[in-house]
Amino acid sequence: MRIVVLVSGTGSNLQAVIDAVKAGELDVEIAAVGADREGTYGVERSSEAGLETFVVNFNSFPTRDEWDAALTARVASYAPDVVVSSGFMRIVSAEFIDTFHGRYLNTHPALLPAFPGAHGVRDAMAYGVKVTGCTVHWADAGVDTGPIIAQEAVTIEDGDTEETLHERIKVVERRLLVSTLASLAASPAS
Ligand code: GAR
Repeated sequence: MRIVVLVSGTGSNLQAVIDAVKAGELDVEIAAVGADREGTYGVERSSEAGLETFVVNFNSFPTRDEWDAALTARVASYAPDVVVSSGFMRIVSAEFIDTFHGRYLNTHPALLPAFPGAHGVRDAMAYGVKVTGCTVHWADAGVDTGPIIAQEAVTIEDGDTEETLHERIKVVERRLLVSTLASLAASPAS
C-alpha cells in the first residue's frame, strides 16, 4: 500500500508511521510527505529519514482553487492508495476529495463528531467534558467529517492543560493511526 502523508506542523504522528515502517511493523510504502507551507518540522524529519518530500505552499498561489489543483496534481503524481492528513490543517476542495474519494484518511484529537476543527483539544476542555480522545476517519469535504474507522477515549485529568492533554491524546493517536494503516494494508480492498 502506497501512502502520501500531508502535514502542516511537527509531524509526530507521521514519525510514528515512519518508525513503524522502519521497524518492519507496518507494511506500507511512504511514497512522499507533503506540506502546505515551508519550514515544517514534519517535512524536515521526513527528509532526514530519506523520504521524498514536497511543499505546495498555500501562500504562493493567487487563489485557493489554484493551490488546491496544484496539491491534487502533486499528490496524484505519486499514485497513492491512501492519502493521510496527519495534522494537515487546510480544508481541501471537492476536487481533491473527488480525486481521493474513500482514500483520504484523517486523524483528529477528539471523539468526533464532537469538537471538530483546529482546536479539538481546547474546545473539549472549554466545554468541560471528562472524557475526550482521538478519531481516525475517512475524510470528506467537511471539517473533520466522514466515516469513522477507529476511536479511543482519553480521560481528562484534574490539572490538565491543553498541552498535557494533547500530548496524552497523541500517544494514543499515534498507535491508532499505525494500527489503522496496518489493517488497511492487510486488506487494501476494504
Ligand atoms: C494531531 O493531534 C492531529 O490529530 C491534529 O493535529 C495534531 C498534529 O500533531 N489534527 C487536527 O486537529 C485536525 N483537525 P503532529 O503534527 O505532532 O502529528
